[in-house]
Amino acid sequence: MISALDWIGDAPTGFLRLLDQTRLPEEHVHLDCHDVPTLWQAIKRLSVRGAPAIGIAAAYGCVLAARAGGPGLGPGADHLATSRPTAVNLFWALDRMRRVPSPTPQALLQEARAIHEEDRAMCRAIGEHAFAALQQISAWNPSGDRRILTHCNAGALATGGIGTATAPIYVAHERGLRPRVFADETRPLLQGGRLTAYELARAGVEVTLICDSMAAQVMREGRVAAVITGADRIAANGDAANKIGTYGLAVLAQHHRVPFLVAAPSTTFDLTCPDALSIPIEQRDAAEVTHPLGRCAAPRGVSVYNPAFDVTPAALITALVTERGVIQPVSREAVAQHLA
Ligand code: MRU
Repeated sequence: MISALDWIGDAPTGFLRLLDQTRLPEEHVHLDCHDVPTLWQAIKRLSVRGAPAIGIAAAYGCVLAARAGGPGLGPGADHLATSRPTAVNLFWALDRMRRVPSPTPQALLQEARAIHEEDRAMCRAIGEHAFAALQQISAWNPSGDRRILTHCNAGALATGGIGTATAPIYVAHERGLRPRVFADETRPLLQGGRLTAYELARAGVEVTLICDSMAAQVMREGRVAAVITGADRIAANGDAANKIGTYGLAVLAQHHRVPFLVAAPSTTFDLTCPDALSIPIEQRDAAEVTHPLGRCAAPRGVSVYNPAFDVTPAALITALVTERGVIQPVSREAVAQHLA
């Protein structure tokens, strides 16, 4: 399985090696982070991205922060918290690292490795639960014609393991069932085309790339058994923030009576957010919209709105799948009970 990030070496002298996702799929190059500012930039520019992977990267970043000196984890950990606002896994991981009793680089590396390993295991468990749930809830026959549709990249590149939304697909593939997938290309930064299509094809999974605007048509043609996406933050009532475009997909799924599932580890829930309104939405640079892949595609000076995420209301989510099992129907009470 492709790996988004790895710690290389020991605590006093080692570094965080990222697969630079801004360069995929054309170039498979690494970006080595020896200090916090380099890692901050890498998170900001999406060299490492996807909620769980951002959390894991920040955890390793705390080793770099502690090495730089200062009290506790030093200002480095606080700085990392300013890199991206929506994925709650970032804040969850930093909080957990701050609770390490005597935060030596060695102790912090051990904790970061534990976070990484736990995420790997959570992805696997999500895969098993989602594999079963998709067959119960939807008309998905993993060897049949109707496909799973996914948006953005909630795959191995976004986690420490086999992904969240992709996890049931990899589970089916491992069992020789030949699952087939539609990947939305995911404007503006094309994580679906550059990353999901890349990692699934690399693993031998049959994937068909569509533009975001084609999802309605493939649903209407009856080609989609279920939609499954990841999440960056899930509020206490089950409202789920994910890559911009996810909400629209959920509306389409409801219209076409296609089950809509969200797969995420319990570390993606934020019970301090009562609902969608309190989830911060990252706003990104206009150039991502005006200059896709670096090429000018809009008149100079045009006004741009570029929210990186939207929030799908719980009412449109057929089921939430975590490493603990399935929440269906989705309600505030069911979420609280599931996480208790
Ligand atoms: O801006 P990105 O690429 O970090 O957005 C990623 C997503 O929206 C993913 O779907 C989400 O983080 C879940 S990853 C398991």
